[in-house]
Amino acid sequence: MNAAPSTLQALPRVAHPLPLFVQQYQENSELICAELIGGLQAPEAILSPKFLYDRLGSKLFEAITELPEYYLTRTEGWILQAHSQDIANSIGTGCTFIDLGAGNCEKAAHLFEGLRPKQYVAIDISVEYLRTNLARLNHQWPTIPMLGLGADFSSKLELVSTVCSSKRVFFYPGSSIGNFSIEQAGLILQQLASQAGEDGWLLIGMDLVKNSAALQAAYDDPLQVTAAFNRNILLNVNRLLGADFVLSHFKHVAVFNQQFSRIEMYLQALQETTVRWSALGSGIRYFRRGERIHTENSYKYSFKGAEELLNNNGFSIAHYWFDPHKLFCVFLAKVRVN
Ligand code: AVI
Repeated sequence: MNAAPSTLQALPRVAHPLPLFVQQYQENSELICAELIGGLQAPEAILSPKFLYDRLGSKLFEAITELPEYYLTRTEGWILQAHSQDIANSIGTGCTFIDLGAGNCEKAAHLFEGLRPKQYVAIDISVEYLRTNLARLNHQWPTIPMLGLGADFSSKLELVSTVCSSKRVFFYPGSSIGNFSIEQAGLILQQLASQAGEDGWLLIGMDLVKNSAALQAAYDDPLQVTAAFNRNILLNVNRLLGADFVLSHFKHVAVFNQQFSRIEMYLQALQETTVRWSALGSGIRYFRRGERIHTENSYKYSFKGAEELLNNNGFSIAHYWFDPHKLFCVFLAKVRVN
């Protein structure tokens, strides 16, 4: 027999505070085209790695994280899981947990159990991407208030007033800081330090220098998923600029530059080729055979280099955790109050 309606109404109700969403970043297609054209017309052609991540590019990156050769995501996941209690004990409960480049929010969610944040703020360039993931998380963790923020924190981070101001913990996983030059990375960290407040923290994952064969394999896998990820930038540029790049005219190249301690990704012309575009009054770029377009850098830090980067830009390391092979390191750093 069915329960009487009055009995059902008497059951305790679980609170489901709906996540709030704020889109701060607005795409400006003229600026985007101007940036792309400037890069293509430079003597050494360059495209910003942010253009790798259109819809298909984001899926290809997810596939990269599953590759046996791409140890970064798996290794960082292992560190975060193995040391989640340590991390929680070091930070304590009740923080404002701010996830930079949150994506599917999975890595942060693994830390909820120990951290019990008083607010979870997921930042990504588009709140649309966050919507489904935050809705799912909200069901699993109904008592944690959540906020989705559409912002490009790499150029400017201004937290809206709905982000709690006490005990802010910035979470920046995946060695994403490695895709910026040391100077740019320093500026990003300085911004985080200034937005974190005196009781603020940074939990950051950084890939470490290792033998170049392992690095080379991680960025030039035999399945050629990374090659597809890299060449897809040309499809994105074709769409954004109305350009006519022929993908088969370019091959993926990844090299470890010892001097700068970084993997460099390029697209190298396999033959002479001319590219035309229709955006902003149209234009043209001729590529010699062998000429390259620089698409990404991925810096690999020594422990000392990482320590310097954090120390020089507003933070002091409180704890750090490696995997058993010291491939990767997760740092917990406290804002330094001068
Ligand atoms: C997102 N970022 C940390 C990746 C990396 O390893 O630099 C992007 C990537 N590029 C090629 N493979 C993965």
